[in-house]
Amino acid sequence: MNVFKKISETTHYLKNQKKAGKTIGFVPTMGALHNGHLELMHRAKAENDILAVSIFVNPIQFSKPEDLEKYPRDVEKDKKLLESVGCDILFVPDVNEMYPETVNKTYDFGLLEKVMEGAFRSGHFNGVAIVVKKLFEIILPTRAYFGEKDFQQLAIIQKLVEIENIPVEIIPCPIVRESDGLAMSSRNERLTNEERKLAPFIYITLTSVKQKVPSMNIADVKLMVENMYKDQPEFTLEYFEIAEDTNLQPVSNWLETKGIVAFIAAYLGNVRLIDNIRII
Ligand code: PAJ
Repeated sequence: MNVFKKISETTHYLKNQKKAGKTIGFVPTMGALHNGHLELMHRAKAENDILAVSIFVNPIQFSKPEDLEKYPRDVEKDKKLLESVGCDILFVPDVNEMYPETVNKTYDFGLLEKVMEGAFRSGHFNGVAIVVKKLFEIILPTRAYFGEKDFQQLAIIQKLVEIENIPVEIIPCPIVRESDGLAMSSRNERLTNEERKLAPFIYITLTSVKQKVPSMNIADVKLMVENMYKDQPEFTLEYFEIAEDTNLQPVSNWLETKGIVAFIAAYLGNVRLIDNIRII
């Protein structure tokens, strides 16, 4: 595996590969790698000549400084995992390399960024879009792989590619879960043992919701979820939403559209967890 810290050497190497006719599969990450990330990489490796991965904890997508500070980091452990999936290129820049000057670009993603993560984490998606656009310019991927765990992020990236006319194919990948249903996440590392045992409740909520389709109406499903969290003092429910899979706008009945996804964000202690499940 080639490990690059500099933009110029990364782009130089990958441009030559592209000139030689090689396809590049790219998986951008913030490190603290787990099987969710590795699944994306297996797929990118299988579908392309070269697997390129980036590890960069992007400061401008964190709305709370303590969340950035506490974000788990272990690049040496990550490198071993990357070797095990046959990663060809690891791009691991520092903050000055990515942002030599302050960036003040503001994207307009319309209604997509007004709901859920966009509503609760101000500036988050703008920061994601800025870094992903920059990473695409550096890596020049043929295909880029994103997890449905961050369903709204995936929609934002698809919109970004459209707005900026970036020649890359975005490949959505299913959520990878622990055996008890908890969606894998780097943030799970921050849960205490006690919290880790409680965490699958988020997935239990989503599967209970799915079971209520179509017998219970959406307003009552939302009430049911709110009540479920009233009995769970360790959790603070931030939002529960049922929305259309394309524009992510809330729906009020099951028949409104062909694609419906239920979304949840909740704090367990100090750790913010998100998850979603396809309903229809
Ligand atoms: P990060 O949270 O490290 O996630 C990197 C990629 O892995 C994202 O596409 C995410 O959706 C995917 N992923 C994480 N957990 C997953 C799971 N359990 N199952 C399937 N896929 C999963 O998302 C980011 O980093 C950043 O915002 C980034 C796109 C790198 C921009 O900084």
